[in-house]
Amino acid sequence: MKPINIRLLAWYDSHARTLPWRVSPGEGRQGVLPDPYHVWLSEVMLQQTTVATVGPYFEKFIAKWPTVKNLAACDLEDVMKAWAGLGYYSRARNLKACADKVASEHDGKFPQTAAELQKLPGIGPYTSAAIAAIAFGERTTVVDGNIERVSTRHTANSTPLPQVKEHCREFMDRVTPADRPGDFVQAMMDLGATICTPRNPACSLCPINDDCQGHIQQIAEQFPVKAPKKPKPTRVGAAFVAQRPDGAIWLTKRPNKGLLGGMSVVPTTGWTASKNGATGYAAAPIVGDWIPHGHIRHTFTHFHLELEVWSAHVNMLPGDGWWSLQHQIGGEALPTVMKKVISAVADDLFKVPK
Ligand code: ADE
Repeated sequence: MKPINIRLLAWYDSHARTLPWRVSPGEGRQGVLPDPYHVWLSEVMLQQTTVATVGPYFEKFIAKWPTVKNLAACDLEDVMKAWAGLGYYSRARNLKACADKVASEHDGKFPQTAAELQKLPGIGPYTSAAIAAIAFGERTTVVDGNIERVSTRHTANSTPLPQVKEHCREFMDRVTPADRPGDFVQAMMDLGATICTPRNPACSLCPINDDCQGHIQQIAEQFPVKAPKKPKPTRVGAAFVAQRPDGAIWLTKRPNKGLLGGMSVVPTTGWTASKNGATGYAAAPIVGDWIPHGHIRHTFTHFHLELEVWSAHVNMLPGDGWWSLQHQIGGEALPTVMKKVISAVADDLFKVPK
């Protein structure tokens, strides 16, 4: 039997997904090299986010800022607006900080090793290894969720996550070739995304099924074993969409640090574990004829949030903020939870671009 990397690279040559940041195996053979800026941007966006969601954001960023120097030259506020909806907003601030550093300290050229890449903002062990392998051909060991699934199934390793990650790294270190390491890790990712899927894996189509213990024992779907999840708590609060007579709504900016840091929001109460006077309509930022618009729900990494949504017509509000006209709202740095809040009101009054 040929080694895993030979079988997997042969499969990748004809089955690689076409992705906007990727150099295809055919282009690679003709000497086309990946653009490190594209590889870096895609890997940062793909942390915690699916390929399908990232695609349009990636295209938008590349169209607006074709090079890392362009990104370094723009305002953070514009990056936050372009990132709105992708979630995990500290990634966007780190992205900008990283672009600034690459532009000012490296003349716009990314360092070429995982060790050097890890010194940049927002680039940890996974991202540095992925960029070094894909953009610069360094033989690193890359482990993401897809690779965890493929490697635990191949070895039928029933150690639960996250402890099994170390085993996955050893597996990758054993099988990653010195030649085409970037294509190899992307082949593992594509296999995990298209064949070795979480449910109903298509084992009969898999190029490495002959020595896959999960397949041989007909137990592939059991892996990776996950430690039981703690249930997420639910927090509650109220959100207030204050409208001026011309339809503009009042927005404020969250502090830069913490959840939704630096993003634009309508005024809300605090978000706490139980309903009380400080989390309901009584805590509106100004006295007015507040009208209820039901609830919206949103799930963050560590909790569910249920917000009552209220709207009122007002002429002024206290505190720092600004009026956003209806045609400006789609361009604001609104996180998804706030798009839900405004939509709950706007479905009655006007349309918010999704
Ligand atoms: N997920 C993270 N990085 C990826 C890549 N380069 N190709 C496909 N899926 C990915």
